[in-house]
Amino acid sequence: MWGKRTGYEKEGRRITLQYEGGEGWIEIINPWVIHVFAPLHTQEPESRAVEQPNPAFEVCDYRVSEREGQLEISTEKLTARVYDHFYVDIHDASGTPLCLDYRGGRDPFQRRGNVSIAEGEGHEAMRTSGHHKIEVLKAMEGGEKFYGLGDKTGPLNKRGYEYEMWNTDDPSPHVESHKALYKSIPFFITLKERAAYGLFFDNPFKTFFDLGKENSAYYYFGADGGNLDYYFIHGPSVKDVVTRYTALTGRTPLPQLWTLGAHQSRWSYAPESRVLEIAEKFREHDLPLDAIHLDIDYMDGYRVFTWDKERFPDPAALAARLRDMGIRLVTIIDPGVKKDKGYSIYDEGLEKGYYATDKDGVTYVNTVWPGDSVYPDFSDEAVRKWWASNQKIMLDAGVAGVWNDMNEPASFTGPLPDDVRFKNDGRPADHREIHNVYGHLMSKATFDGLLEATGKRPFVITRAAYAGTQKYSTVWTGDNQSFWEHLRMSIPQLASLGLSGFAFSGCDVGGFSHDCTPELLVRWVQVGAFSPLFRNHTAIGTRNQEPWAYDEQTLNAYRQAMKLRYRLLPYLYDLMVEAEKTGLAPLRPLVLEYPQDSNVHEIDDQFLFGSRLLVAPVVEQGKRHRAVYLPDGVWFDDRTGERLEGGRTVLAEAPLDVCPIYVRAGTLLPAYPDRRYVGERKIDELLLYVYPGNGEYAHFEDDGESYAYRDGGYNEFRFAQEEKDGGLGLKFEKVHAGYAEGYSLIRVAVHGVVASSVTLDGQSIEFETEDGNTVFSVPANGGEVRLNA
Ligand code: GLC
Repeated sequence: MWGKRTGYEKEGRRITLQYEGGEGWIEIINPWVIHVFAPLHTQEPESRAVEQPNPAFEVCDYRVSEREGQLEISTEKLTARVYDHFYVDIHDASGTPLCLDYRGGRDPFQRRGNVSIAEGEGHEAMRTSGHHKIEVLKAMEGGEKFYGLGDKTGPLNKRGYEYEMWNTDDPSPHVESHKALYKSIPFFITLKERAAYGLFFDNPFKTFFDLGKENSAYYYFGADGGNLDYYFIHGPSVKDVVTRYTALTGRTPLPQLWTLGAHQSRWSYAPESRVLEIAEKFREHDLPLDAIHLDIDYMDGYRVFTWDKERFPDPAALAARLRDMGIRLVTIIDPGVKKDKGYSIYDEGLEKGYYATDKDGVTYVNTVWPGDSVYPDFSDEAVRKWWASNQKIMLDAGVAGVWNDMNEPASFTGPLPDDVRFKNDGRPADHREIHNVYGHLMSKATFDGLLEATGKRPFVITRAAYAGTQKYSTVWTGDNQSFWEHLRMSIPQLASLGLSGFAFSGCDVGGFSHDCTPELLVRWVQVGAFSPLFRNHTAIGTRNQEPWAYDEQTLNAYRQAMKLRYRLLPYLYDLMVEAEKTGLAPLRPLVLEYPQDSNVHEIDDQFLFGSRLLVAPVVEQGKRHRAVYLPDGVWFDDRTGERLEGGRTVLAEAPLDVCPIYVRAGTLLPAYPDRRYVGERKIDELLLYVYPGNGEYAHFEDDGESYAYRDGGYNEFRFAQEEKDGGLGLKFEKVHAGYAEGYSLIRVAVHGVVASSVTLDGQSIEFETEDGNTVFSVPANGGEVRLNA
């Protein structure tokens, strides 16, 4: 369509390119990131993901030169060569090609035979994706691996797979042939031999991604509507790509500490006596718990922002009783508003014109839980404000967080037609454009409402999302099933969400549909213990999935995993602090930390928790051992204390109550003493586990709920260790003191070292040796310690 380039203009950060067939532009976001755009739908980008002002947009120098018909646009870090037909080739600063446009057309492999005969038997027919209005083909060199794309099924490396972005509520078992799930995160990372880069196709319409499936000479992304609108993000490391992508689309903000504790849910805990019974059982069985979620049956006939007065006569009193036990209430709020004259929310929205309409302007009705329901138009600022203000109804009833579901949006009587109309903040749009951002905008409204009413860090959990939703909400992976296969898949799913900017995510521990076996529950909790969001949730009608519902062995193993999670909460909290600063998620695939080691590129049954802990869970029934790949370096087997050389595969013993964990030598790992919920008791003494080697660690401490930390209301500690002269030197520093109620002591346990003497700032101090470890205390304000062997 573009033809020959006829001219160009440079203005500010934008280089407009004139072609025979139309106009496009390249925008310099910063030295590593360029934006390629053509106004095929709107004159300017109207991104819901890239908000303004935006920290990724930097003022930076760039040069434009023209030679032999090609236009060369160079920043300090990359060069884009632009040709006729709007071909764009991107090279790094040294001229090495990074990402080149493919010069041929699509040439899919051939499918043979008449598939309709197979459909007759009920098979899903395989068809090649047709042509799209927008198609961007990029050349493949051969060794590329692809990561990201949000919550998609399939392995971690998406090479050879195709996907679609169209938020989909499909309750059939999520398997590899599902091209779309609940979220649309049109961002992926390409890892080549020496460099990684990201591509973010910021187009909210249904989009298509083929990562070398139909032809190994190219990969492509496309759409049938919207603009040509994508960002090239240079690394060169995978970490750099994630950091730069999240600078553009936003980062997961630091959550309240309690939200990192355990959440318990089912469809549905009701009436209130059942909720209290669940809470009491958690305490009786000495199981940590911070939140109980109320699913749809707390409402009056599924009317959002109401309570069933019989089942929940006094929600505020219930919430208060639970709070006394250290447990908060989270309630589900779906977008579908029951069509019901006399129901105040419905009436108010109708009167103000807050609902999506059909093409003739008549309020659009479909069916969800309440029966006939209408859809708030979250693409309209006034509706978002209204929805935000409604959150107060839940907060006044004692609710501490809001769970947004069914916001793809889901519909039971067929999909919403393409021509359903939305106001779209002044430029009316139809369902094709709004569908994928509907949940995103609902989460934003919920976040804004909670923030305004409480002033604290909002806790929102959403099922549907678009790129950038991580700014407003945590996510879960929707309706998985109690299948071993789904436990296995949860690891690449959560790792991919992390690479796609979603640092705070989890899945239904134990599985949503189907009946969970005791062994599956134990193995799932062992993975869940390291998922940023932990929630045990199951569907209506399934067997009980609480930890005590099976037998003693299950209960004990569950408790053990949960206690470990709670001990590691300060580490997880530090990882969330890191996520807010860098966009890197706590749950990481090995490829993020060791991209140069090709052995890890495909590993998706092990993961890293931060950069220091390697988790190798058992994800197969009956297995009591497993192979574990340890990347280069020295690792400690957390169970046996054994010191192991990495760069090889080891065999780990994994009886039912053990999830193999390895700690990198040089780690300084903060921990809390046992608590049944966040804030049960004030922590005066931080525990610090030292795994000898060389290393540093930054630890953060604050009130765990307010925004005071953004004005300096926090403490920051730096811990370091160094092996020297046959002993170990440790340095403790408080580098920022802004939170007065902090720890006074640090209780240090040095792993596998029996010291003969310990000095603090040159003076001998008392120490103990326990199980081959040396244990002593230092003041939280700091000091230098030496352990002599
Ligand atoms: C959807 C949700 C699930 C919830 C159910 C009832 O299926 O994904 O988590 O329990 O609706 O609200």
